[in-house]
Amino acid sequence: MSVSVEVRDLSIVFGSGPSAVKVLPSVSFSVKAGECFGLVGESGSGKSTVLRCMSLLTDFWKGEVEINGRSVRDIPLIERCRTLQMVFQDPYGSLHPRQSVRTVLNEPLVIHKLDDREERMRRAITDVGLPVSFLDRFPHQLSGGQRQRVAIARALILEPALLLLDEPTSALDVSVQAEILNLLQRLREERGFTYIMVTHDLAVVDHMCDRFAVMLRGEVTEILPHEAIATNGATHAYARELISASLEYEGIR
Ligand SMILES: Nc1ncnc2c1ncn2[C@@H]1O[C@H](COP(=O)(O)OP(=O)(O)O)[C@@H](O)[C@H]1O
Ligand SMILES: [Mg+2]
Repeated sequence: MSVSVEVRDLSIVFGSGPSAVKVLPSVSFSVKAGECFGLVGESGSGKSTVLRCMSLLTDFWKGEVEINGRSVRDIPLIERCRTLQMVFQDPYGSLHPRQSVRTVLNEPLVIHKLDDREERMRRAITDVGLPVSFLDRFPHQLSGGQRQRVAIARALILEPALLLLDEPTSALDVSVQAEILNLLQRLREERGFTYIMVTHDLAVVDHMCDRFAVMLRGEVTEILPHEAIATNGATHAYARELISASLEYEGIR
């Protein structure tokens, strides 16, 4: 099952009193069921904060986030975990060094009282292109790309419909990045996932995303189809600049 997402007037303030900072003044966008939607913009523009708010890792925001027309705040935690999962940038930091892959994958199954655990773990690990024997490995016995595959398997094990991907390949070597992007692409084609993907790399957006939002200082300046990258079809000055910088970079390579 695919899900649609609606983010409306999402805003958040960090700190209070004179040190209060409005990190997201107001963010709105809609994502169609089965779509891959990109969030791009310079470092500090609020991309990760948007994903953290959507998943309620940060919960003191205002506005509305709806999944299939239902407010995320109204979806009980257990059900929310089975609807939406996040994958983080750093596959080193996101896995506990003393936990085997089996422990990592088993934990959500226990919490959610799912049976056929061994079978589900085997399926999850092979779905991300790793052999079943890797269930007995620890993070230090895995390469960066393999760790990110395990992080993706952990996100998939509860069979969510929506994945929030925060720079899922930017900590990886270029050759490994392509493997992980191809894996994500294949999983989306097979399962009809909806993806919201943060990246600073417009080549990744062009390869993966249907549409993308350009963020600047906590606001969405423009939402564009991925085709707008090749032709630089942006109208907003900042989005144009971002795209032309990326096209120049691509040209030099
Ligand atoms: N917990 C927090 N407390 C205070 N400021 C924060 C917090 N989280 C993020 N910020 C600030 O919000 C802004 C946006 O951060 P972030 O969403 O991480 O940006 P991006 O992912 O686009 O690089 C930054 O200026 C950051 O310092
Ligand atoms: Mg970030």
